[in-house]
Amino acid sequence: MSKPRVGVLVSGRGSNLQALIDAAADPAYPAELALVISNVPGVFALERAEKAGIPTRTIPHKNFLSREAFDQTLDAELRAVEVDIICLAGFMRLLSAPFSTAWHGRMLNVHPALLPSFKGLNTHQRAIDAGVKLHGCTVHLVTPDLDDGPIVAQAAVPVLADDTAETLAARVLVQEHRIYPLALKLLAEGRVRVDGNRAIIDGMGDAEAALVNPAG
Ligand code: GAR
Repeated sequence: MSKPRVGVLVSGRGSNLQALIDAAADPAYPAELALVISNVPGVFALERAEKAGIPTRTIPHKNFLSREAFDQTLDAELRAVEVDIICLAGFMRLLSAPFSTAWHGRMLNVHPALLPSFKGLNTHQRAIDAGVKLHGCTVHLVTPDLDDGPIVAQAAVPVLADDTAETLAARVLVQEHRIYPLALKLLAEGRVRVDGNRAIIDGMGDAEAALVNPAG
């Protein structure tokens, strides 16, 4: 049986795209990267895709009169190459409700915080300012609401006393690169079942160990 085909939407350096490329290079990985689309010309993510032999498109959102018109073009490009699943990987553009609804249950996003805390931008500085002891990242199914939707995977990291937004971002990013390929694998294998706000993962052992910081 052929593997689900994935379209990755990017806007920048593409380190999460790279994590997906590296995972999909394993013949046993259950998804295939079919297309990378950037809304920003010339970003490093496009170079990464080209190097991996994945077709790319650049669709500058500035060329469109409305969000809906841009999203319709995105949709058409993705469907033209028979994409089954969309991964937002540092895609810094809000998607319209019709687009999100059309791809409901088939579109993942990675967000650099433990949702539902710290939706939006500047998550690392806001986590430091809020004094949280654990921060992290989330991969979730996308709904029309910003940084909302059933959570597929999360990873937590400690917030250290001398952290800056940069040092904390770097610690979180390592975990993004772990959980994004994992979450895509689970979705591609058909193991993600949505029940209201919850994504239930079929056949996953329960992780019972607590994460405690400070370790004490
Ligand atoms: C990542 O940290 C991702 O979680 C974040 O942008 C960065 C993109 O890095 N996404 C968002 O903030 C979306 N709300 P990358 O281009 O190297 O993958």
